[in-house]
Amino acid sequence: MYTFAPELGIDHILKIFTSKQELSGHLDNLKGQGKSIGFVPTMGALHMGHLSLIEIAKKLTDIVVCSIFVNPTQFNDPKDLELYPRPIEADTIKLREANCDILFLPSTGEMYAGTETWHIDLGYIETILEGKFRPGHYQGVTQIVKKLFDVVLPDKAFFGQKDFQQVKVISKMIEIYKMPVEIVTCPILRESDGLAMSSRNIHLSGTERIQALALSHTLQITRENAPFKTLNDLKALAEEYLTNSDGVDLEYFEICDTETLLPAKDTSTSLVALVAAKVGKTRLIDNIIIK
Ligand code: PAF
Repeated sequence: MYTFAPELGIDHILKIFTSKQELSGHLDNLKGQGKSIGFVPTMGALHMGHLSLIEIAKKLTDIVVCSIFVNPTQFNDPKDLELYPRPIEADTIKLREANCDILFLPSTGEMYAGTETWHIDLGYIETILEGKFRPGHYQGVTQIVKKLFDVVLPDKAFFGQKDFQQVKVISKMIEIYKMPVEIVTCPILRESDGLAMSSRNIHLSGTERIQALALSHTLQITRENAPFKTLNDLKALAEEYLTNSDGVDLEYFEICDTETLLPAKDTSTSLVALVAAKVGKTRLIDNIIIK
């Protein structure tokens, strides 16, 4: 463990751990003092969206642990893994400014000691939407989140609504392993023009950044039109708009039941519209609750 020395006049101390054993010993001590633990797992390249999770975690728990680990097993494209941004110094400063208490920054060897196999039966949820376009992705996500939860043993874990399906998958994993952790889903943070905040946005060129607005724009229009149109019409209109949007390569647009994530049949349940598209080489996802 080492302590990040403040040099910007900020006196909050961020403790940084790279070893699972040391972190777990430190947290055991805090839990022994009756402190509740909030956990924000991330892959770094922190933006305001991540920092809002830290802020919410600070309000709901005594000690906030953030992890930064770019998890190789959840990338199905090696190029994507290689290009994933890793601005660790800037991230550390952001966490300290956000009054985060602990950063867990393990190496790949610390998280994946030897060759191991992992498979968890997540059911249909891992083969639809994201799962259809990123086979194996949710096996990798559950593999690492289980490992991280086993070290941190948090009372509450905080995830962004932007990865709507991920929250469902992790909730399913918690149910399977009967883990005593509460999942808190936090709202999507958007830029002033509506673009959902994402670590991947930094890969967008100026033109692509404007083209990417088609995603949030479509979601917004879908929500506005929802009281007046059928689900089929809403989906058809959105797909037509996105398919004809310059620079946008649509992967899916779906309106789903928020509980099951299956395509909604009628408007009697709570609904979420979800979209995934490539803008240039950058793959973006976004969603909005429409009812
Ligand atoms: O959402 C992410 O950043 C990642 O999927 C997570 C949950 C940190 C697991 O690597």
